Amino acid sequence: MKRKKIWVLGAVFCTALQLLSCGKKQTAGEEKIHVGVTYYNQSDTFLNQLIACFRESLEEMEGEDSQITLTVRDAAGSQRTQDDQVKELLDAGSNVLCVNLVDRADPSEIIDLARESGVPIIFFNREPVAGDMMQWDGLYYVGADAKQSGVMQGELAAEAIKENGSIDRNKDGKIQYVVLEGEPGHQDAIIRTENAVDTLKANGIALEKLECGIANWNRAQAQNRMMQMVSQYQNKIELVLANNDDMALGASDAYEKLNYTESVLPVIFGIDGTDVGLLAVAEEKLSGTVYNDKEGQAQAMARLSLALVSGRGMEEIEFENDRYVYLNYSKITMDNIGDYLKQDEE
Ligand code: GAL
Ligand code: CA
Repeated sequence: MKRKKIWVLGAVFCTALQLLSCGKKQTAGEEKIHVGVTYYNQSDTFLNQLIACFRESLEEMEGEDSQITLTVRDAAGSQRTQDDQVKELLDAGSNVLCVNLVDRADPSEIIDLARESGVPIIFFNREPVAGDMMQWDGLYYVGADAKQSGVMQGELAAEAIKENGSIDRNKDGKIQYVVLEGEPGHQDAIIRTENAVDTLKANGIALEKLECGIANWNRAQAQNRMMQMVSQYQNKIELVLANNDDMALGASDAYEKLNYTESVLPVIFGIDGTDVGLLAVAEEKLSGTVYNDKEGQAQAMARLSLALVSGRGMEEIEFENDRYVYLNYSKITMDNIGDYLKQDEE
């Protein structure tokens, strides 16, 4: 008799639990997350890989309680086009937006559109200026700290120069260097350059700057700029600091095209750790790179997207200044490249 009572009680308890979980499932089951993404240019190697990671993260998070759709638009370098895309994404029912601004100083139109629809925006990779982030409390940013990547690139170069006296090829006690810089006005261009150079100096490396060429993150443009610099400075260039891997590879392409032998090649450093960048480190075309954690950024964007739509899980996200998420960079050389190549295969 006693047993039966316990059983009955148990059954009631279970049903109550079931009801509870059922209730939860019902609301959650109706949860449809429509993520609308627009990014500045589909020719960008790092961003294409970041968006591929984002797609994977969302797929992993899709469960019984959430249905996720993802729409991605390429703004092809036009802010006007991107503004229209945001309108279109909102009209199509996006309930969270992920925006990689074309012009990081011009987000007002997009912010107004989103605010009118009550749809939050996660800006990523191209950081809006602080004042614009204050325009509305439905704005977030996911990215990385530009300064950290510049410091790490400087440290990598300083370590290499201290270890290998032959980098100072003309033995004048100074390192003749050139910079390949990303888009003007991008937080990852000027800040990376400044911090890489300052870090080299802080490490006691005497430097002589030969030139700084803008190549807009682009491999072909960097190759062109580098060809010009090599024709001007001949064998003088001992170090190339590139704001990203694609431009570092452009520099390496230039030397290959000019048939320069290894003994007159400068050391070249990139930033990103894209697939091609990692391969180039493994093949010793690049002396090192700094990992721009696309998996971490994608994961943070996916978690934040879900949390913003469902209202659950916000407390698990580590924000800085309330609405910013920054993922750490890390240094890559020949010594630890294996860890990253493996990580990429997984
Ligand atoms: C940087 C990245 C570059 C480029 C740029 C685009 O963070 O290092 O390769 O993708 O973003 O905004
Ligand atoms: Ca020298």
